[in-house]
Amino acid sequence: MEIPVTAAPARPAIRIFSDSEALSRAAADFLLQTARQAVEARGSAALALSGGSTPERLYALLATAPYRDVIPWGRLHFFWADERCVPPEHRESNFRLAAESFLSSVPVPPGNIHRVRGELGPEQAARQYTDELRTFFGAGTLPVFDLIVLGAGADGHTASLFPRSALLQERIRTAAPVFVTPPNVDRVTLTMPVLTNAAQVLFLATGPSKAAIAREILEAGNPSRLPAGLVQPHRGNVLWMLDRDAASGLAKTAVHAAP
Ligand code: 6PG
Repeated sequence: MEIPVTAAPARPAIRIFSDSEALSRAAADFLLQTARQAVEARGSAALALSGGSTPERLYALLATAPYRDVIPWGRLHFFWADERCVPPEHRESNFRLAAESFLSSVPVPPGNIHRVRGELGPEQAARQYTDELRTFFGAGTLPVFDLIVLGAGADGHTASLFPRSALLQERIRTAAPVFVTPPNVDRVTLTMPVLTNAAQVLFLATGPSKAAIAREILEAGNPSRLPAGLVQPHRGNVLWMLDRDAASGLAKTAVHAAP
């Protein structure tokens, strides 16, 4: 059940759902709609996916009817917002999450899957991914993703851009290596210029642990203090989908009961 809310002026659009299942179905509908519009407009669509637990149900839904049968898979290109520097079959791999959830069971041409080759190690993987982005989007132009699916950590991180990271000031590179402590892992992430250049960003946040961060970013505080709050596309749109628990810190007026 969707509980439509009015988007606060000059802030991202917000949609609040009764639970994570309803949110995941709405996110699948949104991905379908966004992909279709891009394919109709330009013949293809470029999407970037995140890892984490929140999008797991969304990804699983994409392998089921109706999405499996109506998404124009052959015209879609899949990239990742970030990736851990592990082999593609590793349980921590964001590619593996998407591959096992839906990519391996829908007809996306192998050449349309642009994974980060984390097994190369952070520096080489970042260079390779940067080359892949340049080859696909063109040299000298900032990648414009039709849709980037992002999560938000309870600390306000998104992709692998963490609070107080020097990487938040990056303005040149499109992808970069990052060493995340804890848990002391190497990752590769898209940089803020790419995230903020997207045509559409979809944030997914569920559960009470995201309530404080959602409130700070969406209503109360200084959103640009946090990486997830910094993602404010120049020309594109940001939509936050939250379940009731993640939205529990938002003002009551933000929630309208569905008709
Ligand atoms: C990752 C993600 C990361 C994630 C957030 C939220 O590689 O883990 O890109 O940025 O989106 O940490 O994770 P949850 O969805 O598990 O809360």
